[in-house]
Amino acid sequence: MRVAVTGGAGFIGSHVAALLVAAGHEVHVVDDLRGGRNSVPGARLHAVSVSRWDPPARLGAVVHLAGPVGPVGVLPEAGRIVPAVVSDALAVAGWALRAGCPLVYASTSEIYGPQGGACSESLPRVTVAGHSARMEYAVAKLAAETMLLNTEGLDARVVRPFNVAGPRQRPEGGFVIPRLARQALAGEPLTVYAPGTQLRAFTHVADVAAGIVAMLERGEPGLVCNLGNPDNLTTVADLARLVLARSGSASRVAVVDPADLWGPAFREAADKWPDASLAEARLGWRARLPLSRIVDDALAELRP
Ligand SMILES: NC(=O)c1ccc[n+]([C@@H]2O[C@H](COP(=O)([O-])OP(=O)(O)OC[C@H]3O[C@@H](n4cnc5c(N)ncnc54)[C@H](O)[C@@H]3O)[C@@H](O)[C@H]2O)c1
Repeated sequence: MRVAVTGGAGFIGSHVAALLVAAGHEVHVVDDLRGGRNSVPGARLHAVSVSRWDPPARLGAVVHLAGPVGPVGVLPEAGRIVPAVVSDALAVAGWALRAGCPLVYASTSEIYGPQGGACSESLPRVTVAGHSARMEYAVAKLAAETMLLNTEGLDARVVRPFNVAGPRQRPEGGFVIPRLARQALAGEPLTVYAPGTQLRAFTHVADVAAGIVAMLERGEPGLVCNLGNPDNLTTVADLARLVLARSGSASRVAVVDPADLWGPAFREAADKWPDASLAEARLGWRARLPLSRIVDDALAELRP
């Protein structure tokens, strides 16, 4: 099958593209390289933005991952996140409609908003007062997934990944695991944002990539599934201690105010974790890799 993977040079996209190549598909990576620069052996790279790509004939599937990402990564994009996310979603919907093929869209757990606890797909989606970049990202992704699911004649399927981590994740987006791993290996203090009791459930990127491929292979039109690993629930302070233990670093943990680092526009995520039972029931998918493996893989990549 001929498959277009937007954002395929990025963190999650490069793992998805590699799985699809390994499964024997003809993979077209569409990525303008503004973020990721990963090359995927066996895939064809089109180094253009989504809005400028003209897909080849007989496209068999589209996986749409391109977009802004990360609590720090979205800050400079404020005001442009909604138009970028929605217009790129419109463009990929056009590709899939013309080809009559399925479109898998990578939305986000951020659409659940600031409500804490286990999030299932049936929860209400909540917005908060204020207009942070983080909120713009959440409403943009929710608008895009709603538009795609409501488009007549389009086979749209949606995945909502929760706190993905692992090899090739760039610290610049503001993601905690690559930051802590780099600090531990450099002998620097591990910066934990106050209070440190924030709860997160991390999912290995290999599991998420397999979930996205499962949605393509075994999903159906209109299906929306969380992809996450509730077994990996941790506080951020405990995560920092795990990074210290797995790296053998003598660094210390420093609790800091993220506003001092990133300015007042920075917002932390809510203490939420996935209910991933729907993906297990409908796709036969379940995240398997433990937090220790995520940390080990992040460290291995950064070790000189
Ligand atoms: N990383 C996470 O924890 C996470 C969690 C939930 C959802 N997601 C979603 O998954 C997707 C991929 O995230 P990621 O962490 O791999 O990010 P990433 O930044 O590593 O990858 C995104 C890629 O898209 C490319 N890109 C961005 N805009 C583009 C455009 N208009 N045209 C062409 N290429 C473009 C970038 O160059 C980059 O390589 C995003 O849509 C994100 O919202 C990520």
